[in-house]
Amino acid sequence: MKIKRMTINKVLTAAVLAALFSAAWGTLPVSAEEAAGGAASLQTPAETALSETSGSASVQPGSPAEQPSAEETDTIDHSAESKPIQNIFLKEGEGRPGTEIPYYNERDLTRREWNEVAKIEKEIRILQRERDKFLKDRAREKEDKEKEFAKAFQGRQKYSIVFDPEDYTKKTMDANGEKVSFRAYEHLVYAEKPYEAEHQMLSVYIPEGYFNGETINGFTAETAPIFMPNGVGGYMPGTIVEPQEDSRHGGANSALYALSNGYVVVSPAIRGRSLNSNGYDTGKAPALIVDYKAAVRFVRHNRNKGRIPAGDTEKIIASGTSAGGALAALLGATGNAKEYEPYLKEQGAAKERDDIFAAMAYCPITNLENADMAYEWMFHDASRYYNVRQAPAKKGPGEVQETASEKLIKSRPHNAPAEGVEGIAISPEEKEISAEMRENFSEYLNSLNLRDSLGNKLTLTPDGNGLFREYIESLYLESAQDAIDSGESLKKIPWLTISHGQAVHMDFSKYIKAVKRLKGIPAFDAFDMSSGENNEFGSFDVPNRHFTRYAMEHSKFVTIPTLEEEKELNKEKAAAYRIATPLEKRHLQKYNLIEQMEKDKLEWSQYMADWQTVRMMNPMRFIGLEGISTAPNWRIRHGALDRDTALAIPAMLALKLKNSGKSVDFKVPWGYGHDGDYDLPDLFAWTDRIAKLKDKTDAILKEEALKKAALKEGASEEQTSREESSKAEKTVPIDETSDTSNKAEASAL
Ligand code: DHB
Repeated sequence: MKIKRMTINKVLTAAVLAALFSAAWGTLPVSAEEAAGGAASLQTPAETALSETSGSASVQPGSPAEQPSAEETDTIDHSAESKPIQNIFLKEGEGRPGTEIPYYNERDLTRREWNEVAKIEKEIRILQRERDKFLKDRAREKEDKEKEFAKAFQGRQKYSIVFDPEDYTKKTMDANGEKVSFRAYEHLVYAEKPYEAEHQMLSVYIPEGYFNGETINGFTAETAPIFMPNGVGGYMPGTIVEPQEDSRHGGANSALYALSNGYVVVSPAIRGRSLNSNGYDTGKAPALIVDYKAAVRFVRHNRNKGRIPAGDTEKIIASGTSAGGALAALLGATGNAKEYEPYLKEQGAAKERDDIFAAMAYCPITNLENADMAYEWMFHDASRYYNVRQAPAKKGPGEVQETASEKLIKSRPHNAPAEGVEGIAISPEEKEISAEMRENFSEYLNSLNLRDSLGNKLTLTPDGNGLFREYIESLYLESAQDAIDSGESLKKIPWLTISHGQAVHMDFSKYIKAVKRLKGIPAFDAFDMSSGENNEFGSFDVPNRHFTRYAMEHSKFVTIPTLEEEKELNKEKAAAYRIATPLEKRHLQKYNLIEQMEKDKLEWSQYMADWQTVRMMNPMRFIGLEGISTAPNWRIRHGALDRDTALAIPAMLALKLKNSGKSVDFKVPWGYGHDGDYDLPDLFAWTDRIAKLKDKTDAILKEEALKKAALKEGASEEQTSREESSKAEKTVPIDETSDTSNKAEASAL
């Protein structure tokens, strides 16, 4: 069902058109104020040729559907700025087909009509000058603001990003009963000109054994993979993940576990949405990903120059949970993408590659542009939600509704949105919104052209059914089956049908009832800008902003027409214009300009993040693009009880990666909610496998290359080749089990 909203724009144009077509020749139409009823009409992105003049085109985030279509831009070209007025006259032969009204020709105009035309043309020119001035002034204001911001950070301290191999402390810790000694090089600023040095530093940890020439878990100082976990949660600043003996899940945390398995660990602190210095916000999007990339570049820069004493920079493995998982996925997806370059340069990051070998994401809160729709697709049937938004919206008029004092559920990850006990009822209006978003999800999903491992196209009908739904259900069923196979009894699970020990069917509605809907409507881009994600998409001087067109259209703080309404209106205008007399045309032109000037007054950047920034936070937008080095290896987990985002989100990510030829290990672990790092032995078994497979493949390739070279260059070279290859074999012990499981994994894709 579509929700129709009559907009100011529509009212305005209807009034103008009515005035025009009832007006006799020579009668001046209604004034702008009368036509607009005194209300502000607002700028919209799909500006048609009718209303467009130089310098005013606004760009939009969101799906391709949100960009102006060819149809929209191909309507009458009426850029008043650059075209001489005569061009709008009907040409010989044009007219009103099927009517008795003759075509219009410049020559047919009476003297009186000519005078009217000239008068309006003059008015139009005056208006255009006014508009140009307004736009220029505003552009200057924006520039001034940016200059002020730059000035505020001009005197910031500069740092060296040269790694000092002598500056370390030796540490020994207990990793699940095993003594692990390592060298810690701590708190090294990874960018030369950071805005927030405290939050832009990393620590490097290297197993002590590598300084004695030891081999650990089959790795040497040269071949050890580099594990790069991030500590980000809730898009807040992430702290360095230091090796820890007693983690939240008991025993060694991921950093210590990695060290005990011979990995070099590099953990960066990362800026987040709440940071503010010199009166400016410094951690808004895309700061988080810029920092993660800068840290990768620091490692490559220093290791490749021999300053960091161990680790293979071709085997960098990123890892994170939730917002941190999203960040690991983003790092993995966007290797060397040039969009981030200006930001990296501004922070003084090393000039290096930033692609990585593998990304591991637990419950990634990602693809935020489309996460609202996905959430409604999954959770539409729920009648209550349990998220308690604690922080009121920081900007805009009106109060954010306080929620009842609720008991909060503890044991949520660090910085995840709060969860209440009582739940809040979903209103009928919210239900309608939810239904519309659900419908929009099908459209988005279908645009991705995802396929399962058999090549079946995974699509959805407008009501949200189809092969993609079946695929999502199969993920839950597989999860249940794994639990059954490991001896758990799932007979009491209300949404599951088990037949002869097989999980054969799930009831989605019952599933939603059982796990409960966490978030309100919309889940991420809140109409009152109160979500953590709204805060993440703020700018240096605006705390919270929208990041989807849909939420902007429904915003509590601003009124804009929907894209559909806009399109409809433009069609009407174009049709009216086509049959208008020369004088009517000028009236239309004038009122379009007036309307546009009203729209100009809305400063979009105060309410909505620009589409480039939104895109830079979405891994889905980079996978499979030419010139991007997306990581070849992926491990993605989303617990079967997780409701922080729809399972569709990580599933689409996994499918898109698989479809573009990446190796993806994607699972929905039974019994887990929104959480991460709960299966470290499995996690590091996987990293061991992919790392060793790479070493083995590299050794074979190297041998082949040397053989070829030797064939070319003669017998003496052949000798070297044999020596080289036997050396490579020595440093890379080949584990039979890892080899076979990798093959199994590869064939399963
Ligand atoms: C996290 C959880 C969320 O539900 C969310 O919207 C953003 C971040 C988190 O745990 O990091």
